[in-house]
Amino acid sequence: MTIHEQFLMHNEVVIVTGAAGGLGSELARILAAANATVVLVDINPKALAALSDELAAQGFSAVAKVCDITDAQSIETLVNDVDSQYQRIDALVNCAGILGSNDHMFNIEADEWDAVMDINLKATWQVSTRIASYMLDKDIHGRIVNISSSLGGRAQLKRIHYATSKAGVEHLTRNMAMELVKKNIRVNCLAPGWLATPMVKEILDGPEGDHWRKTIPMGRAADPHELTGALLLLASRASSYMTGSVLRVDGGYSYRGIECDF
Ligand SMILES: NC(=O)c1ccc[n+]([C@@H]2O[C@H](COP(=O)([O-])OP(=O)(O)OC[C@H]3O[C@@H](n4cnc5c(N)ncnc54)[C@H](O)[C@@H]3O)[C@@H](O)[C@H]2O)c1
Repeated sequence: MTIHEQFLMHNEVVIVTGAAGGLGSELARILAAANATVVLVDINPKALAALSDELAAQGFSAVAKVCDITDAQSIETLVNDVDSQYQRIDALVNCAGILGSNDHMFNIEADEWDAVMDINLKATWQVSTRIASYMLDKDIHGRIVNISSSLGGRAQLKRIHYATSKAGVEHLTRNMAMELVKKNIRVNCLAPGWLATPMVKEILDGPEGDHWRKTIPMGRAADPHELTGALLLLASRASSYMTGSVLRVDGGYSYRGIECDF
């Protein structure tokens, strides 16, 4: 196999959750361009349909599946549908997530705390467990890529629930990797920094935008396309000796000092 071929995903079926979102849609485009058949999963049917039409128009293989990843029955239906259509799932990219409000710990309501944990952390475990079990039944040597954030590895004021959920995603990655290491399923985590997606665009375009840009050592947010190399490494056979790793792609943000009075 050539170096180039190691990163390609011919005849492989990859599920991307949060595929209607700013990052998920870009990750889906990257995987489709690497020749994977991409299953686009989200709760937003309109945006999913637009993306699957866009990919089909480019000659790529993609299908849209509406699924709420916090709902076990919805996940079951997804897996059964994909099985009927393709009879395999080679990789899963857990990208669906929410940011929650920008506020201090005293102002966050318990319901919001639960919603952030449910979508970012519990659903990542739930979807991964169901799909890993499917891979085991089919004897597929699969890959799971969890999407964390630079805040999974560092504290940041007014992001306590989000950062805690992403720290959980990173530790979930390590634990799942060990649960699955003898079963030929690899689990790794991609931890981006600031990305110019709608999730954070509001912040970067708002009154605090300049403040935050100055905190990024590279001085700018990334275009989601700049995750191409890292995603294809973790999702493909090119990372055959990696499991339980957290790969940070954040313009140096992890090494920025932590502000305590913002
Ligand atoms: N944007 C950034 O700067 C940034 C940085 C680091 C990490 N991330 C992570 O990347 C991921 C995607 O972020 P984004 O910027 O694309 O956000 P986004 O809000 O644009 O996309 C998130 C997507 O998840 C979907 N979703 C939410 N709840 C769901 C559910 N229950 N079931 C299925 N889908 C659901 C939404 O409909 C949406 O399409 C998140 O996990 C986020 O934490 C983003």
